[in-house]
Amino acid sequence: MTDWNPPPSGNGAGCRIVDLPRVTDPRGNLTSIEGGSQIPFDIARVYYLYDVPGGESRGGHAHQDLQQLIIAAAGSFDVVVDDGTEVARFHLNRSYYGLLVPRLTWRELGNFSTGSVCLVLASLPYTEEDYHRDYDGFLRARREAEAAGTAP
Ligand code: TYD
Repeated sequence: MTDWNPPPSGNGAGCRIVDLPRVTDPRGNLTSIEGGSQIPFDIARVYYLYDVPGGESRGGHAHQDLQQLIIAAAGSFDVVVDDGTEVARFHLNRSYYGLLVPRLTWRELGNFSTGSVCLVLASLPYTEEDYHRDYDGFLRARREAEAAGTAP
């Protein structure tokens, strides 16, 4: 059984769901994440989106070098990812699933449920220089990386 709907077709635009460890307990469940273990990078930064008004979308951008794990820590939302060739939509609605998004992947978040919290674990500190905020610029960078054999 999958908890995201619709299931990603193709290769999920290079993104994949990570099933995080769960310590279930009648007192409440617990999930932990260690950088370099469940996810293929050390965690340099954590941030979260919350109080997102209905109908808003966030995160129309890509990163040159940053990798990230996106988790619906509360509630649910959709993540649309695009590797320049394929577009996939993931519906995140369990706090023990993370969506692993490689570098050079355009991503947008939307369809937030009321009270949802989007938790992001990032491989790098915040720096505006790492952002591609222009889609065409992202595509150029992606194609350059593919030509150089350095694309994820
Ligand atoms: P941004 O990543 O651009 O989010 P979105 O694409 O959803 O708009 O972040 C929005 C603003 O928040 C941006 O101006 C920079 C600031 N910001 C930080 O200061 N530190 C951070 O770690 C992040 C992710 C954003």
